[in-house]
Amino acid sequence: AQSVLTDQLGRPLRDLRLSVTDRCNLRCTYCMPKEVFGPDFAFLPKSELLSFEELERLSRLFVASGVNKLRITGGEPLLRRGLPDLIARLGAIEGVDDIAMTTNGLLLPRLAADLRAAGLKRVTVSLDSLDPEVFGRMNGLGVHPDRVLDGIEAALVAGLGVKVNTVVQRGVNDASLGALWNALKDKAVLRFIEFMDVGNHNGWNLDAVVPPREVLARLSEGPSDGVGSGFTPVQANYRGEVATRYADAEGHEAGLITSVSSPFCGDCTRARLSAVGVLYTCLFATGGLDLRSPLREGQTDAQLRELLARTWGARRDRYSEERGEETGLTRQKVEMSHIGG
Ligand code: GTP
Ligand code: 5AD
Ligand code: SF4
Ligand code: SF4
Repeated sequence: AQSVLTDQLGRPLRDLRLSVTDRCNLRCTYCMPKEVFGPDFAFLPKSELLSFEELERLSRLFVASGVNKLRITGGEPLLRRGLPDLIARLGAIEGVDDIAMTTNGLLLPRLAADLRAAGLKRVTVSLDSLDPEVFGRMNGLGVHPDRVLDGIEAALVAGLGVKVNTVVQRGVNDASLGALWNALKDKAVLRFIEFMDVGNHNGWNLDAVVPPREVLARLSEGPSDGVGSGFTPVQANYRGEVATRYADAEGHEAGLITSVSSPFCGDCTRARLSAVGVLYTCLFATGGLDLRSPLREGQTDAQLRELLARTWGARRDRYSEERGEETGLTRQKVEMSHIGG
């Protein structure tokens, strides 16, 4: 029996994003800068991570509390061994309508077929530029964009739907957006994400955020008057959709994720569970609720659901809107690699 939890601002709990590892095989400057996440960085030992059994049990409780959409994230989720097994377990939960995964794509040539066979339908691959120099700099390790393209190709061959996430930073990759769009628009749904002030180490500043009409102008290589550039707005797929959608004259779809210039907290139905089982009710949270301890101490499903209900019921998070209201908002936030995107 499902009863949908609602928070203090009337927002239902609908999405759960599960981080399965805090490790990554890239070091994107805006997420895990290598100066901070270097060779001596202490990543979580395996024993600290929620097991697949634990992830399945908690997911069932979330689904019973309103969730119908799951997303597997990291760090880089494909670094977690045996991931197809987790997909199969989660797919078997009654009430789960959609399972997606956010990945950098590097391991897809090896894993795409197994993921598809386990029941995964779609992936979202992060790729910031096709210019080897630009992408190499952004991913921190000089990894060539062809390796990500190979992953996208493998996903398509395996029958997975593909979206591509591109974080846009002024003066870094904005000039190469047109080439990315032209190369991928026939294969994938592309989404352009405003550079956000997640975590505490990525040197965020507002000047590096590129507004949507400029992005659209880059894609069409036309003037920067946005919708005049050949794109027309497309109706949202569902209430609270993160991306604002546009289509070009041929119907290719571009999504703009404007969490800085037009925040979408009002419809935010997302909960995030870190790899160690801490529940965060906002991407920019400073803290969360430890679910692993009560789980490992033997609490019942009913007791755990009560914890969930209390936490979601008290939720008032709307960080992206508050950032616009108070200037110079500073706080010690959870790292993105800890809770996924
Ligand atoms: P679909 O299920 O395919 O519609 O995906 P989605 O719209 O949930 O988007 P996805 O999970 O791919 O998120 C894309 C990016 O948007 C993330 O990587 C984040 O950078 C950003 N994002 C997603 N959710 C939130 C959120 O709740 N708040 C903020 N501020 N940004 C978010
Ligand atoms: N701003 C915007 N998007 C980010 N992502 C990671 N860090 C940031 C940031 N600072 C995106 C990645 C990936 C997803 C996990 O989140 O590009 O698509
Ligand atoms: Fe890794 Fe994704 Fe973060 Fe890049 S954005 S460092 S690929 S987790
Ligand atoms: Fe949701 Fe927090 Fe993002 Fe607002 S800032 S959309 S409340 S996760």
